Amino acid sequence: KDITLSFQDRRPVLAPGELEEKLKASASLLAEVVAGEEQYQDSLGWLHVDDYAGPARVDFLLEQAARVRADADAFVVIGIGGSNQASRAAVKALRPKDGPAILWAGNTISACEMARTLEELDGYKSIYTDCIAKNFETLEPGIAFRMLRHYLEKRYGEADAARRIFATGTPDSTLHQLCRDHGYTFLEFPGPIGGRCSIGSDVGLFPMAVAGIDIKAITQGMRDMRDRLFAEPAEENIALKYACLRNLMLRHGYKLEMMAFFEPRLDYFAKWWIQAFAESEGKDGTGLYPVVSSNSEDLHSIGQFIQQGSPILFETFIEVRARDASVIMPAETKKDYFQYLDGKDFWDINDTARKATMEAHSEGGIPCLNLSVPALDAHTLGQMYYFFLFACYLSCKLTGVNPFNQPGVEAYKGYMFKNLGKPGAN
Ligand code: PA5
Repeated sequence: KDITLSFQDRRPVLAPGELEEKLKASASLLAEVVAGEEQYQDSLGWLHVDDYAGPARVDFLLEQAARVRADADAFVVIGIGGSNQASRAAVKALRPKDGPAILWAGNTISACEMARTLEELDGYKSIYTDCIAKNFETLEPGIAFRMLRHYLEKRYGEADAARRIFATGTPDSTLHQLCRDHGYTFLEFPGPIGGRCSIGSDVGLFPMAVAGIDIKAITQGMRDMRDRLFAEPAEENIALKYACLRNLMLRHGYKLEMMAFFEPRLDYFAKWWIQAFAESEGKDGTGLYPVVSSNSEDLHSIGQFIQQGSPILFETFIEVRARDASVIMPAETKKDYFQYLDGKDFWDINDTARKATMEAHSEGGIPCLNLSVPALDAHTLGQMYYFFLFACYLSCKLTGVNPFNQPGVEAYKGYMFKNLGKPGAN
């Protein structure tokens, strides 16, 4: 199989047969999800990739993106949380080369960042934007969109600015009304898909397409993973196995799951993963707190804690198997004491560090999962998105929390909106 999951538990934490028991006991839960449960129907649009990212929709998005790519040298993605994480993760991981520069806005209220973005835009000739906001009440994208509209109108005039503006929202939103009133191009944020599950819709796919990412391969990866997870029996199901292992760790007193990888290209994918799990699972006084170790850099800081600090975390390593780059250490006659690496490939040195880290951590008693992926390409990334979303859904079902709401996020907004004088806020 392309993507595999293995587990090293040298302490051991789990009793013999405990995982197998758990998988067996969770078979009905998997069956319920695969059959399509009534309870979450209004949030399960992402489960069936073709409902919102079928070939016709992908072709439409590619056409829209082609119009932008033909003219733009900068494209500003406005959005926060689920609205920008997936496309940003893909752009940072896949680093497409031949498209417009992709800038991110609407994910902070920092005056300094807003000023920097506007200043940066002055350096580009032809700018387009997409404001992504599900109900268009979130402060960050709302105010960034106004700033961008004013900026574009000032530079290009109202009519030309309008043609450069895309907005992605629900059909009944005020954002759609704004598009109708002023001639912006409207894209759909599907009602039955929450922000953090929105990769396989206009939300995630359009910015990726503008950046030059192969969104046919992304959606095919998602589709392939869906087919796999819907067909794999409980005892072999890779997402159920991951969900069960996480749940067993939680039950055995672990509080943190650390995603560890040796490709910094995955930094923003990890941010996406953090959002998916923290926002879905962290409620009702339960859940694992998702943290990240971007190696080898972080081994020189948090690596100390991981190896010898409080035993509160287990690790999920991401192993990338493809040799997609090669840099050979040149031989050196000057004595710099690194002669033992003459002629070695950076790729192998990095892989040796990865294996050594897993060895040291599991030897030190840390439970280590290893998710091995074939490559960092669009198809694999599509599979990874779907895998983690599906596993997150199962994880939430195992702890009994609602995967698709985020009532805790509203708490700070109440105080903020009241103090900002928003009508109706109390
Ligand atoms: O996953 C979620 O639902 C959230 O993270 C939202 O995506 C985020 O809060 C942004 O919401 P909106 O698109 O409505 O601005």
